[in-house]
Amino acid sequence: MSQNKDTITPHGGTLINRIATPEQKAEFLAQADSLPRVQLDKRATSDLVMIAIGGFSPISGFMSQNDYQGVVNEMHMASGAAWAIPVTLSVSQEVAAPLKEGSLVRLDDPSGNFVGVLELTEKYTYDKKHEAKNVYRTEEEAHPGVKVIYEQGEVNLAGPVWLLERAAHPLFPNYQIDPAASRAAFRERGWNSVVGFQTRNPIHRAHEYIIKCALEIVDGLFLHPLVGATKSDDIPADVRMRCYEIMMENYFPKDRVVLAINPSAMRYAGPREAIFHALIRRNYGCTHFIVGRDHAGVGDYYGTYDAQHIFEEFKPGELGIIPLKFEHAFYCKVTEQMATSKTSPATKEDRIHLSGTKVRAMLRKGEIPPAQFSRPKVAAELAKAMKIES
Ligand code: ADX
Repeated sequence: MSQNKDTITPHGGTLINRIATPEQKAEFLAQADSLPRVQLDKRATSDLVMIAIGGFSPISGFMSQNDYQGVVNEMHMASGAAWAIPVTLSVSQEVAAPLKEGSLVRLDDPSGNFVGVLELTEKYTYDKKHEAKNVYRTEEEAHPGVKVIYEQGEVNLAGPVWLLERAAHPLFPNYQIDPAASRAAFRERGWNSVVGFQTRNPIHRAHEYIIKCALEIVDGLFLHPLVGATKSDDIPADVRMRCYEIMMENYFPKDRVVLAINPSAMRYAGPREAIFHALIRRNYGCTHFIVGRDHAGVGDYYGTYDAQHIFEEFKPGELGIIPLKFEHAFYCKVTEQMATSKTSPATKEDRIHLSGTKVRAMLRKGEIPPAQFSRPKVAAELAKAMKIES
């Protein structure tokens, strides 16, 4: 498919780069001990990185009150650009009080390393319940994304940021392909259309099926697992990366796939997060984005296809990336292959439903997922990681 002769533009038109130049870095380091400090949590640390590398273009810093309110209430920033999830730096009243608007603030990661600088332009309080209700569609603290909001500080610090340096990922340096590099990689391969795939799970057969359906109509696949903060019962990123490598080695045509890590934190915001995920992949250079069943959902908070319907709330072309929407895929016992109700005659009894949650539950019980769930080599790797005897 020749969807887009030129590389797709980033959201807002320009790929943001907020990585300090060597001169800026030297200046910041010289002030390291004199600047007021704010310690970032894991999510804010990965947000800082995403802003700096352009993954969140056109965002160039933590959100102002205008942008925040626009995003929470209308899914648009003050500039009019679509955006669905607040990107904020929230701190306690005590931390915020001494900080002066107009000054520079040193940003430390959770281990206390100096990682970035914020030019503080604004401090504002916000309504946590309102954010929860609008963005997560629930005020329940049991929701893992809402819980994070309730636990974070009451004051948002806003302003442009710089990342001190783009350090190599400690675990996956070879898969750290930032937006400028992924764009170059797609150009090099001559891909005019690229489909992005978000996941926080090992790739199971339903994932593989929808990915391959998409691959039939585009030039390449950007396999882009999220490796930022996830909830504690999700499968750890290092185990998942080995499973992705196994998929690349054995079950995908390697020359049609680029595997790279997405450093963002999971929000579990379902529909809103599907928009967020799509815009991020546009910034990485994708023309298409896969949205399957209950995308970025958790528990029963969202309807199966809510994350697909939300795309209709935007004007045609506004998001600049095409969602490829897939129905709930299952293993069909009648035709002995993966399918959806669009392609299979199977009755309910002839369908084997699988999901990341089911795979995790089986592994916890010491069971190895069957071949209808998971490719045997992936299942073996998961079993090894969970110390299950085969
Ligand atoms: S997510 O939180 O990253 O969305 P997951 O890794 O399980 O979770 O899903 C990755 C993508 O595959 C999402 O677009 C999701 O909707 C889709 N997906 C997962 N399981 C299925 C399935 N059985 N049928 C169709 N789509 C699915």
